[in-house]
Amino acid sequence: MKAATIDRYGPPEIVQVRDVPTPEPKEDEVLIQIYAASVTSGDWRLRTATFPDGMGLLARLAMGVFRPRNAVLGNDLSGVVVQTGSKVTRFKVGDRVIAQCGAGGGAHAEYCCLPESGAIALMPANLSFEQAGAMGFGGGTAVHFLKKARLKAGEKLLVNGASGSVGSALVEIGKAMGAEVTAVCSGANAEMVRALGADHVVDYTQTSYTEGGQSFDVVADTVGTTSYAEAKRVLNQGGRFLAILGNIAAMLGLARGDKAMGHSIIGGVAEESAENLAELTRLAEAGKFTPALDLVVPLEQAVEAHRRVETGRKRGNVVLTMPVLHATQSSS
Ligand SMILES: NC(=O)c1ccc[n+]([C@@H]2O[C@H](COP(=O)([O-])OP(=O)(O)OC[C@H]3O[C@@H](n4cnc5c(N)ncnc54)[C@H](OP(=O)(O)O)[C@@H]3O)[C@@H](O)[C@H]2O)c1
Repeated sequence: MKAATIDRYGPPEIVQVRDVPTPEPKEDEVLIQIYAASVTSGDWRLRTATFPDGMGLLARLAMGVFRPRNAVLGNDLSGVVVQTGSKVTRFKVGDRVIAQCGAGGGAHAEYCCLPESGAIALMPANLSFEQAGAMGFGGGTAVHFLKKARLKAGEKLLVNGASGSVGSALVEIGKAMGAEVTAVCSGANAEMVRALGADHVVDYTQTSYTEGGQSFDVVADTVGTTSYAEAKRVLNQGGRFLAILGNIAAMLGLARGDKAMGHSIIGGVAEESAENLAELTRLAEAGKFTPALDLVVPLEQAVEAHRRVETGRKRGNVVLTMPVLHATQSSS
């Protein structure tokens, strides 16, 4: 099968599309023929070995000290189950699915094997493979953190980095949960985040979200350009700060919020689960979550996709499409 591979850490140009062995499912695994997969900020981190403050050593030990342990990147995919192991009961051949591959990656390829107990769910009937292939990374992270924050209807949610993959999903899913959403992004993306449902937009190139006289119940940071110390000034009693791009203290749950104000700081790595993906499918089918797409290119143009992600300015998601999708589209 074809896959986009890396054999060292480096710039987008190190990504090579080449033939690699097609994986074979174990008895508890499904073989998924991948139709579309997103190239994420997580793939950028793994390709360049750029990790949040204080996480570099731990991440390198896990991902490969001198070169990446896994040649095929990619976390987030849509596709069709084409083979099942003898003990698989949750899925059958022909099921259209979305899935996340964990830190090990493997989605930037024509096929991957995943345990049926992993982060796999049926794909929403109303989304294209391209859209569905960009649901898990941003959407799964948004669902994870908004659940941890126990976001309630009527609460005020502020999203810093609202036009990125995670940020755009936080806006959509925050609205779906009944929150009043303020999106922080550059002016050029104001219309985009309004279209996703944001009630208010703050252009960070003109002003700070702490200056507008508004206060919030939840502040989510996906960029690292704000902090709890800053957000504290506008967090209500009982407020939560989501350190989605956290440093090591937030990642390990060591950062503490103001006790008298009842503030909490929520960090860590988003859990990838079948339950969260199924929740995203329900939201999509209810018309409440449609991942924003920036660039969609065939697998052969993986370098171009990585270049776009590397800018740090993508609007929503960048997606690779696989040969089977082109074959299906040209025959229909
Ligand atoms: N904790 C976890 O488990 C977890 C899970 C997933 C992702 N993450 C992390 O979350 C971060 C965001 O991921 P992502 O995929 O959403 O990134 P992304 O899609 O690359 O984010 C790009 C967005 O960031 C915005 N941005 C850039 N500079 C900004 C600034 N100064 N203020 C506000 N917005 C700014 C850009 O908007 P403008 O062009 O409008 O500036 C752009 O739309 C990454 O660092 C990733 O590693 C963590």
